[in-house]
Amino acid sequence: MNKPVDHGVSIALRVNGKSRQVAFDPRGRLSDLLRDGLGLTGTKIGCHAGDCGACTVLLDGAQVCACLVGAGQCSGRDVVTVEGLADGDRLSALQQAFIHHGAAQCGICTPGMLMAATALLAESDAAGAAQAGGEPKPLSEAQVLDALGGVLCRCTGYRKIVEAVLAVANAGGAATGEATTGSAPADPVGARLPRLDGRSKVTGSEQFGADRYPEGALWMRAIRSPHARARFELGDLAEFRARHPGLAAVVTAADVPNNRFAIFPELRDQPVLADAEVRFRGEAVLLLVGEQDAVMSVDAASLPIRWQVLPALEESAAALAAAAADPADALHARWPDNVLCRGRVNAGDVDQAMRHAAADARHACLEVRTRHVEHAYIEPEAGYAVWKGDRLHIFVCTQTPYLDRDEVASVMGISPERVRIEPSAIGGGFGGKLDMSVQPLLAVASRKTGQAVRTVWDRPESMQSTTKRHPAQMKARAVCSAQGDLIAYDFEADFNTGAYSSWGPTVANRVPIHASGPYRVPHVRALTRAVITNNAIAGAFRGFGVPQSTVIGEALMDELAGACGLDPLEFRYRNALRAGDTTPTGQRLDASVGLRACLDRLRPSWQDSSSRARSFNATVSAGGSALRRGAGIACMWYGIGNTVIANPSTMTVGLRRNGRFMLYNGAQEIGQGTYTIMPQIVAQALGVPVDLIDQIHGDTDATEDAGKSSASRQTFVSGNAAMLAGLDLRRSLAAMAGFSECAEAAALPVLRIAGGSVILRTPAGEERRLQLAALAADHRGDLAVGSGTFNPPTVPLDENGQGVPYATYGFAAQVAEVEVDLELGTVKTLHIYAAHDVGRAINPTLTEGQIHGGIAQGIGLALMEEYVSGRTDNLHDYLIPTAGDVPPITTWLVEDPEPLGPYGAKGVGEPALVATAPAILNAVQMATGVRLTDLPVTPARMRAALVAAAAAVEQAGACRARRD
Ligand code: FES
Repeated sequence: MNKPVDHGVSIALRVNGKSRQVAFDPRGRLSDLLRDGLGLTGTKIGCHAGDCGACTVLLDGAQVCACLVGAGQCSGRDVVTVEGLADGDRLSALQQAFIHHGAAQCGICTPGMLMAATALLAESDAAGAAQAGGEPKPLSEAQVLDALGGVLCRCTGYRKIVEAVLAVANAGGAATGEATTGSAPADPVGARLPRLDGRSKVTGSEQFGADRYPEGALWMRAIRSPHARARFELGDLAEFRARHPGLAAVVTAADVPNNRFAIFPELRDQPVLADAEVRFRGEAVLLLVGEQDAVMSVDAASLPIRWQVLPALEESAAALAAAAADPADALHARWPDNVLCRGRVNAGDVDQAMRHAAADARHACLEVRTRHVEHAYIEPEAGYAVWKGDRLHIFVCTQTPYLDRDEVASVMGISPERVRIEPSAIGGGFGGKLDMSVQPLLAVASRKTGQAVRTVWDRPESMQSTTKRHPAQMKARAVCSAQGDLIAYDFEADFNTGAYSSWGPTVANRVPIHASGPYRVPHVRALTRAVITNNAIAGAFRGFGVPQSTVIGEALMDELAGACGLDPLEFRYRNALRAGDTTPTGQRLDASVGLRACLDRLRPSWQDSSSRARSFNATVSAGGSALRRGAGIACMWYGIGNTVIANPSTMTVGLRRNGRFMLYNGAQEIGQGTYTIMPQIVAQALGVPVDLIDQIHGDTDATEDAGKSSASRQTFVSGNAAMLAGLDLRRSLAAMAGFSECAEAAALPVLRIAGGSVILRTPAGEERRLQLAALAADHRGDLAVGSGTFNPPTVPLDENGQGVPYATYGFAAQVAEVEVDLELGTVKTLHIYAAHDVGRAINPTLTEGQIHGGIAQGIGLALMEEYVSGRTDNLHDYLIPTAGDVPPITTWLVEDPEPLGPYGAKGVGEPALVATAPAILNAVQMATGVRLTDLPVTPARMRAALVAAAAAVEQAGACRARRD
């Protein structure tokens, strides 16, 4: 993010209907002129390369990527940004529709989407006005997809955005209603409440990591290793700095008090700045801090760094072999075999079960490989740090403010109380912002310079330096009886965890628990290794390894179903876990096991899709077409919350003198909706309308520790804490009013605020009042406070993986309908049907949004996403699904209530994604007859597999002919 150097030219243009004059370098970008020159930060930057479309604005009425337009080109022209859409406080019909339809999740793409859609609607209006009668023709979905095609969204799966645009286009805006003022449904839980933070997302006023910084903050730039493995020596940096007067400091490992951090404190292995050795391409070696222009104009090659490049071990097999040959070649001395950790679940006796299976038992085995997948959130990492006395304040995009606080404190050698993490709005995370990125670098740089320091990573830097989904090399074998009852499942996998530990242990431990799928399998052996390599650090990414292992498991279920002559859905139905069953870890599932209900919902769509594909293929193959269609089904389960480790969340809610309630909500919003769901839950618990709930959001100085926004845990864990806080406040108010103590929620008085009083009425009809003016306020202004803490009950796993790793599980089944072009090797998804057991949908609109977004990421995992360090670290070469890649999605929310959940709710963030890729791959198998085992299924891999399959058929035919 290089700010233009010359501000001496005055550029005159109209922005949002007003004439503006701004001194700016005409060679600079329009996006920077808007943000830095005019303070219009509603225009977001995701790539600075025209790939993501987040910076889309209207230039003389046409949509353009502002990052690709020269500032000087805009002289005398008309620019409209997202800030120009609303009429004062009144949102445009399109903005209202986005909120109403749940079209904004994290919100970072929302301004760009709105501008692209605005251009389309204006074009459509103009075309209509030009016609006789002046009525625009209804817009088609294809037109909307085309108009939005240049703007990437990583959260929503696009479908709700398309719905919102079509609603405005084809109902003149009237159908969208005024959705921005909220509503007060009788029962907040279960209501399709519009997002409470929707207005800031559709107006562009949400402040992401790059959108706020102190006046005069210095700029920080990390210098990174171009080598995957190397030793290095630093030369005379003082002399270098002296030659660059704009530099305030050059920061090295020697400036870091404790130069190690990790997700798990006992594993702290990752240096903040590399010290004499780098282990992956993109590792930070030193920091340049100073005036932005001076910092950015430094040629990295001119720095005095002497490299000694070493042979890199980028793949798991290479790393294992090298360490086996010579432990001295291990990448970390503490892991001499290059194995970070192992995971294991052993249930029954797999070997014996397979040996003694009946002669007519059905066997299937496969090997599957997956690759690095990039989170590709549209917001690159950004933030600032400033020391205030002996306290450190960091404003940053993060999924885990409390963990950041503790790790930054450890790095700086200070107590956690001396660190304040203030999360910015987060432009997507998906697990990628669970690891620290800019935080410790900013802390050290600010300490060394004594000034506020800020940074915004560019797209290649973000992609090179942050974590990825683990590539997996898996093999598995499954056995069932001739009637189709699963007997045994044997699974082994290596996960390439990259240079540092990150979330490797979680992946290695979570996968074996889930490997055999949501089925009754008496004998299971599941073994994993997290292997250290010189590749990108692999960490948390929506599913912690379960999406990878589900690909092979669900392929095997199809293979066995076929071997038994059973329909794939019915095979799964027969084997599905149900209430009262025991999992391979020995955990008894007493309730909320809704997989069979999901399959029941899907059955008609499955039957229709399969028969549609069969009849399509019969028709086109007769005509010689290269197109084939297939339908595939896959099931999944997912443990909600952290695996075994403590997982608590605390929420508090206070009553204010104005008769409103203040929720101290530390459950970090990352687009999933915690700033709406938590108020819904607390309002339900208090028995008051959601409109009466105000919030203070996650800030380690202002809210209690609600844990990480990860592992699909916030609705279940923090939702419980919010519910308990609400009930606790009701209990406190009842006690203050003199009612005798009542433990049961149903016996608590109902609250009402009226006439400056809290009115409490018992179920028996007795009513008392507390005058708000007569109550004393605490230091935060609360007259009474309720607090709730919830930590899911789990039991640690023993050496065979036996225990209770999660308090509850989400279940789902999805059907994919695809079309394969046998000549081109392309796969197009035509429709996804998704049935998810969510326990209870606290807000069905947001729940569906999570499912849509997960499905889009599942399509990417199956068909297009492959991160190769040094080759695909931008959004041009690294492909994620666009609006045109996500087909219509039909969703069913199955509500099999979880007794431990808040009002029955579980979680859905990760379950949304897990079944999609295997369903697509099973559909591809039906369409082509070929089992694809190397992901993603790019056209080149599809073609290679088809050619290999054809060759194998030919060879078999030749053998038969020779025999005959
Ligand atoms: Fe589109 Fe997050 S809502 S990227």
